[in-house]
Amino acid sequence: MIIFSRNRRLRTNESIRSLVRETVLTTNDFVMPMFIMEGENTQEAIPSMPGIFRRTIDLTVKECKELFTLGVKAVNIYMKVSENLKDNLGTEAWNKDGLMQRTIREIKNAVPEMIIMPDVALDPYSIYGHDGIITNGQIDNDATNEVLARMSVSLAEAGADIVAPSDMMDGRVAAIREALEETGHINVGILSYAAKYASSYYGPFRSALDSAPKDFNEIPKDKKTYQMDFHNSREALNEVYKDIEEGADIIMIKPGLPYLDIVAKVRQEIDLPIAVYNVSGEYAMLKAAAQNGWLDNDKAIIESLTCIKRAGADMIFTYAAKEAAILLNH
Ligand code: PBG
Repeated sequence: MIIFSRNRRLRTNESIRSLVRETVLTTNDFVMPMFIMEGENTQEAIPSMPGIFRRTIDLTVKECKELFTLGVKAVNIYMKVSENLKDNLGTEAWNKDGLMQRTIREIKNAVPEMIIMPDVALDPYSIYGHDGIITNGQIDNDATNEVLARMSVSLAEAGADIVAPSDMMDGRVAAIREALEETGHINVGILSYAAKYASSYYGPFRSALDSAPKDFNEIPKDKKTYQMDFHNSREALNEVYKDIEEGADIIMIKPGLPYLDIVAKVRQEIDLPIAVYNVSGEYAMLKAAAQNGWLDNDKAIIESLTCIKRAGADMIFTYAAKEAAILLNH
């Protein structure tokens, strides 16, 4: 028998494989999420996220310098807010001297070319641990939008390049865009978490910031009234189209690895850049297996991130950004 088509010909050696390679991961693809806390010269390990720390501003700035040197050019920042600053309205979120605002100013000062993408949502600031304001036991969509818009303007004033609303309220992209335009921040972009699912994979992140929904009578203990139902796929496109209409510059899909079908589907439909969040639980699973010697850490990281890009991501939010950058630079 003569075999005319031998697919293995193009896999014979690394040179030919590299010639026909369709997707190449580079440090240009990464956004590093970072957790910030008050204090000086201190970092605290996050047990469920080996290798990831909550850091004070000074150590965060130092880390940003290192990241930039390694080729990681964007950071996504989150605050661990002191209990005494939490309330229902997230008042601290738009304090011009708040931890978030000070962090942005100091990173910009030290590493001006670093793209800073602060998270916009109320959960770390909320006594209830929700992304929105609570009115009569419910998450109040429209009241929350006003606060998110105020918060975004405050972050833009501090020097944010792109605000990243992760709250999933309806109409918040339009509210934020309008507020930014009215205050002259015409070049501050919006990366909207358009299709964000209510996911168990956010567990380690919530323990890092102590931001899980709290146990209060009559208040929802999960985020299912605003984050998407993981049984759904078509709904993701609906969310994405609305955010584009409202003025989003970049669309986020989240989580990453278990949701690559959604990424591929959205990629086929839209031309805007797509960001994918390789979330805390995905990172924790990989690290747990690697620590047990069940997976090769380095190979699994590069494979996972490349697969996210292959599915259609233009950029990947990943806690493995620094590690992956070091691996790619070698
Ligand atoms: C909060 C927010 C969450 C994440 C990013 N922004 C958690 C949540 O929605 O409860 C999760 C990130 C991760 O798990 O890595 N608005």
